[in-house]
Amino acid sequence: MDKNIQIAVVGSGYVGLVAAVCFAEMGHTVICVDNDDRKVAALQGGDTLIHENHLPELLERYRNTKIRFMSDLGEATRECEAIFIAVGTPQSETGDADLSYVEAVACEIARSINGYKVIVEKSTVPVYTNEWVRRAIERNGVDRNLFDVVSNPEFLREGTAVADFLHPDRIVVGADSDKAAALLQEIYAPLTSGEYYKLPNAIEGPCGPTEPPPLLLTSTKSAEIIKHASNAFLALKISFINAVSNLCEATDANVEQVALGMGLDSRIGPKFLRPGIGYGGSCFPKDVAAFRSVAEQMGIDFNLLSEVEKINVQQKKRFLAKVRSALWTLRTKRIGVLGLAFKGETDDIRESPAIDLVEMLLGEGCSVTAFDPAAMKRTQDVLPATSHLKYVNSAYEAAQDSDALLILTDWPEFASLDLDRLNKIMRYPIIIDGRNLYDPHVVAQHGFTYLSIGRPASNPMREAVLAAK
Ligand code: UDX
Repeated sequence: MDKNIQIAVVGSGYVGLVAAVCFAEMGHTVICVDNDDRKVAALQGGDTLIHENHLPELLERYRNTKIRFMSDLGEATRECEAIFIAVGTPQSETGDADLSYVEAVACEIARSINGYKVIVEKSTVPVYTNEWVRRAIERNGVDRNLFDVVSNPEFLREGTAVADFLHPDRIVVGADSDKAAALLQEIYAPLTSGEYYKLPNAIEGPCGPTEPPPLLLTSTKSAEIIKHASNAFLALKISFINAVSNLCEATDANVEQVALGMGLDSRIGPKFLRPGIGYGGSCFPKDVAAFRSVAEQMGIDFNLLSEVEKINVQQKKRFLAKVRSALWTLRTKRIGVLGLAFKGETDDIRESPAIDLVEMLLGEGCSVTAFDPAAMKRTQDVLPATSHLKYVNSAYEAAQDSDALLILTDWPEFASLDLDRLNKIMRYPIIIDGRNLYDPHVVAQHGFTYLSIGRPASNPMREAVLAAK
């Protein structure tokens, strides 16, 4: 991998930091810029600030050699040929993406341009953002020939971010200039040529070895839409299977069997058909709202997206109703909660359905004892412990003396609990599983009443009847 390109990455959040260390891993020289001096100092000291596989080892390998951290965007702009913008695009009150950070970065880059630069949108942004970035730079007096704006959306997932970045299903480059497209092709050449995967110490893909990814060249607007449309479609798949799971509950069918049967159709595919308590995280809720808002502004009726959101909200309410149906009343009940993060393998609690449910339970007058393997500190920052909300250090402590145990995040360790031990320490043996981590028959055989999503409820009595048949 001999082509070394000077790359600046602006923003050291999930996308920015992962992109920065991965570009270094691909052989490039990287400056990662953040306007938060404390973050820059922490990263310079080797603290990744987020819980993400492979990130600490890569940071350690390249810190002070192939990757530097600084807060001076002007200096980074002058030194680098490609500048990736990976700052936050939070949701505004109307549902739109708030692009003020992107605009501020564009203006600052404009003030330091000293030669041809390619400015790359890496953050998820609505269609037309590339034009706004271009206009902002031109307004600051920069000649149109001195820069291009391209869109190169990122599809990584939290928890497997580094492996996803280095083993993407596809690389999308939206460029309206050949020169800019050529530079992006060079940057990704270690992946598209397959050269990276032959290295003895290459990071493995999330599911083992992978083929070199295709690089799809599109217009900038298409690339912007590809990112929003992909996330909205995945959210749609989840809401669809959640709605199907509700129908399965009403008919005593089994959603796992239905999802398997649907997913075996290669046109549908098996992924993202896991029912649960609704999707969360920093992307899906925000991106579905932003995509809906873009459609609205363009006069396009895309009400399907409102339905996707509606089902997602209902899914949490239905789960609460399920807890109520198992316990009759909720006031003063002691509930053990397993999981606070929006999904397993991450400490991220942004838009976590688990946190929403904890708040709903507290609102109903329950006492909650919660445990999460990684997200406790972050949760306590937003929901401090009270006389009704306790944080403990293991799943068993959360279950101790509880009237019911709820599984709200799909952490692998929650799928292999010692059921006999749980049965002994809980006040009532009731498990309500929002992630379908267990085989209902097995849990019932250990003496539990077990409710999950879209599958027939099971309890020891029902198991005994089934066994007698
Ligand atoms: C997502 C996209 O997958 C990624 O491509 C994009 O770049 C960012 O947003 P992420 O938010 O990290 O990634 O999580 P993901 O694994 O996609 O899960 C999102 C949410 O959907 C989680 O709350 C998860 O629990 C839920 N989910 C996922 C389901 O409920 N069922 C499923 O089958 C899959």
